[in-house]
Amino acid sequence: MKMRPLIALPMIAMAASCLAARAEPAKGDRALGEYLAGECVACHQVTGQASGAVPPIVAWPEDQFIAVMKSYKNKDRDNQIMQTLAGRLNTSEIEALAAYFGSLALQPMKN
Ligand code: HEC
Repeated sequence: MKMRPLIALPMIAMAASCLAARAEPAKGDRALGEYLAGECVACHQVTGQASGAVPPIVAWPEDQFIAVMKSYKNKDRDNQIMQTLAGRLNTSEIEALAAYFGSLALQPMKN
């Protein structure tokens, strides 16, 4: 009988965190996104600055990022490089990239 509160408490905590997780939008795997981003940051600046013809992609809402990547993937958006890159990514990889780049803060210009 004495054990009961010790068992019940973690169960309540687990139930609560399940409910909390369900209330939030599906999030990509940020760590996977950081890993995959190695390819992207050859062109896109992690600081969020535009660089030549390459637009900034940090601090975007995840939904928007996912939608844009999917539109390159299914060639609704016209850009050969991005179509090829997005075409190689599956949905969870795109979500992971959205979570990673979305979590980065836009940094002020250095000059
Ligand atoms: C070889 C350079 C290069 C690489 C590598 C690259 N991109 Fe791009 N990306 C571009 C260019 C150039 C554009 C602008 C294309 C256009 O005009 O539609 C762009 C556009 C985008 C956009 C849309 C930006 C906007 O403002 O509409 C997103 C999102 C994006 N890239 C994500 C990524 C991700 C994620 C990766 C890594 C998987 C990646 N890019 C890798 C060059 C690159």
